[in-house]
Amino acid sequence: MINSRKTDHLEICAQKDVESGNPGFDCIELDARSNPGADFKAVDTSTKFLGKKFRFPLMFEAVSGGTRKAGEFNKSLASIAQEYGLGFGVGSQRAMIEDKSVADTFKVRDVAPDIFLVANIGAVQLNYGYGVEQCREAVESIEADALALHFNPLQEVFQPEGDTNFYDLTKKVNEVCRKLKVPVIAKGVGNGLNLADVEKLDVDAIDVGGVGGTSWAIIESGRSGNGCRLFDDFGVPTVECLLELGELGKPLIASGGVRSGVDAAKSIALGASLAGVALPLVKNYFSGGAKAVEKWLSQFMFEFKTSMFLTGSFKVEDLRGKVLL
Ligand SMILES: Cc1cc2nc3c(=O)[nH]c(=O)nc-3n(C[C@H](O)[C@H](O)[C@H](O)COP(=O)(O)O)c2cc1C
Repeated sequence: MINSRKTDHLEICAQKDVESGNPGFDCIELDARSNPGADFKAVDTSTKFLGKKFRFPLMFEAVSGGTRKAGEFNKSLASIAQEYGLGFGVGSQRAMIEDKSVADTFKVRDVAPDIFLVANIGAVQLNYGYGVEQCREAVESIEADALALHFNPLQEVFQPEGDTNFYDLTKKVNEVCRKLKVPVIAKGVGNGLNLADVEKLDVDAIDVGGVGGTSWAIIESGRSGNGCRLFDDFGVPTVECLLELGELGKPLIASGGVRSGVDAAKSIALGASLAGVALPLVKNYFSGGAKAVEKWLSQFMFEFKTSMFLTGSFKVEDLRGKVLL
């Protein structure tokens, strides 16, 4: 059941328009300089996140695993992450925790020994028999540097087979944070994360997964035939998440509708440490393979580097605050 759902997700995302809402990047501008003060060639895009080095501040976000096709996707994307010094997240590892025979489809360390690698479990599973043991298994089996616990209540409600009991999860998430040896990231999936909920969590970082990109209401209603369109762009837009969650002082990943290097630069100007993308990887990979992903990435990197230069930012941290709201 989980594997056929993941296959549906990849196929729908590769073929259909599944985006909704506005992440908010078009409402802000970078603080442009007419004399950047140094050479374009001096722009340095390297950074650190949770103690790990990145050559470019981008995460390839959690998408898949569990089937042969998904395993090939993971290996291919992780190899690119290794080559360009990015981070990479595998999709929900519930499939491999419930069926050990698919564990290999999540393993990428053979092709990506150095990347910041993030394991992934739905937070709601902590109300369905999962605990610290399963979280540890998710991390250790793929030699991950961190665990993302994703919060996806809208997706679960729209799934005919969804797990909808989110009762008293905060306490269980905090137990995982206390007992796991690696950092824990609270992760949105396209509806954003709300400050009042996240401030109670003892997580080490937050991946906002805001509104404005992939919409799970569109994807899941496409699968189930549920005709309700009222929640297509429901939740907190990405830019609003960054502004609200920034006050917690924890490292942030900006994701949800990040579609260009300029969006990524604006995210970092607004306080994020990294940007994250998912849907463009799926669209490019399933239309033109790894080559298409690399072509898309090189354009994204050019746009980011140019944004740094034109704001007089020669280190990633120099971008902070260089935004006109
Ligand atoms: C096909 C697909 C599968 C996904 N599966 C997962 C998942 O298993 N776990 C998770 O935390 N997020 C998952 N996501 C959400 C992404 O990691 C990301 O947070 C979200 O899509 C917003 O980014 P985007 O607008 O660039 O797609 C998935 C996204 C896509 C497109």
